[in-house]
Amino acid sequence: MKILVTGGAGFIASHIADAYVKLGHEVAVLDDLSRGKRENVNPKCRFYQSDIRDRDAVNQIFLKEKPDVVNHHAAQMDVRRGVREPLFDAQVNVLGGINLIEAAVANGVKRFIYAGTAGAGYGEPHQMPVPEDYPINPITPYGISKHTVEHYLFTFRFLYGLGYVVVRYGNVYGPRQSSQGEAGVFAIFAEQLLAGIQPVIYGDGTKIRDYVYISDVVAANVAALDRGSNEIFNISSGVQTTDQEVLDLVNHLVGKSVEPKYVPRRPGEIDRICLDVSKAERLLGWKSQVSLAEGARCTVDYFKQAACGKEQSPARATR
Ligand SMILES: NC(=O)c1ccc[n+]([C@@H]2O[C@H](COP(=O)([O-])OP(=O)(O)OC[C@H]3O[C@@H](n4cnc5c(N)ncnc54)[C@H](O)[C@@H]3O)[C@@H](O)[C@H]2O)c1
Repeated sequence: MKILVTGGAGFIASHIADAYVKLGHEVAVLDDLSRGKRENVNPKCRFYQSDIRDRDAVNQIFLKEKPDVVNHHAAQMDVRRGVREPLFDAQVNVLGGINLIEAAVANGVKRFIYAGTAGAGYGEPHQMPVPEDYPINPITPYGISKHTVEHYLFTFRFLYGLGYVVVRYGNVYGPRQSSQGEAGVFAIFAEQLLAGIQPVIYGDGTKIRDYVYISDVVAANVAALDRGSNEIFNISSGVQTTDQEVLDLVNHLVGKSVEPKYVPRRPGEIDRICLDVSKAERLLGWKSQVSLAEGARCTVDYFKQAACGKEQSPARATR
């Protein structure tokens, strides 16, 4: 299959591109390198440094590549920046998304896989675990912009028959994650503890998140190549983990016991979330495989190596 992966120089989609290449697919990567790194791009992929908002450039890439599948992960994914600059957030996430969807329709793409967000989409849920049909109540511009693209996919399916799969992630973690952004708490704590910096916890450490390891996310994107047509899926472990538990785990793995600095919560942060992932089990045949303990060990190992200036090969580090 010919697959165009957007955001493939970033954390999640670079692993997905690796997996698609390994399965024998022909993969092209589109990324403007605003946050991603060129060295994350699999050498077997054709690489286009371009902005998803650039109509001409995107059309040229589609004309040249003629992809069967688009896997769209490029995004403005810094929640804080979205709060400060909602217009920019919408330009990249909404208009960039529409630009790709239009190009996909114009060039006969068969399937559009879209990375949505669960944590930033459902708002503060009153029911746990949260299923896909739970009302969407984003409390940040990022949550709005990420969710809006799902409406376009639904509508373009009706208008033009573009097939899609939405994978709404919990908090993804693993090698290559940047310590900036939506959900980088493993990366942040690992980098800080290894550098001898006191970590900061926003709140009292009891905030609950649902973490999913990168290889599980990759497996969902592989399943989405031929299953789950025109459906939305929560993709996460379904396990509730507090900020304090993450810090304790990372402390343990780096052989330290550093006390964090507790500071007030930031606006836009929900108290707790945990996802119902049974639909993905049923229709995608997907299930989270990696425990928090195992994923945390692989992640901290990666940051230890990075701190020594010797980045190990992450795809190989996962299982
Ligand atoms: N990390 C998480 O826990 C998480 C949770 C839910 C959803 N997501 C979604 O998954 C996707 C990937 O997230 P990630 O954690 O890998 O982030 P990331 O920042 O590592 O990757 C995003 C990539 O998109 C690229 N990009 C940004 N703006 C672009 C533009 N205008 N044109 C072209 N490329 C552009 C960046 O350079 C980067 O390489 C995003 O869509 C994000 O919203 C991530």
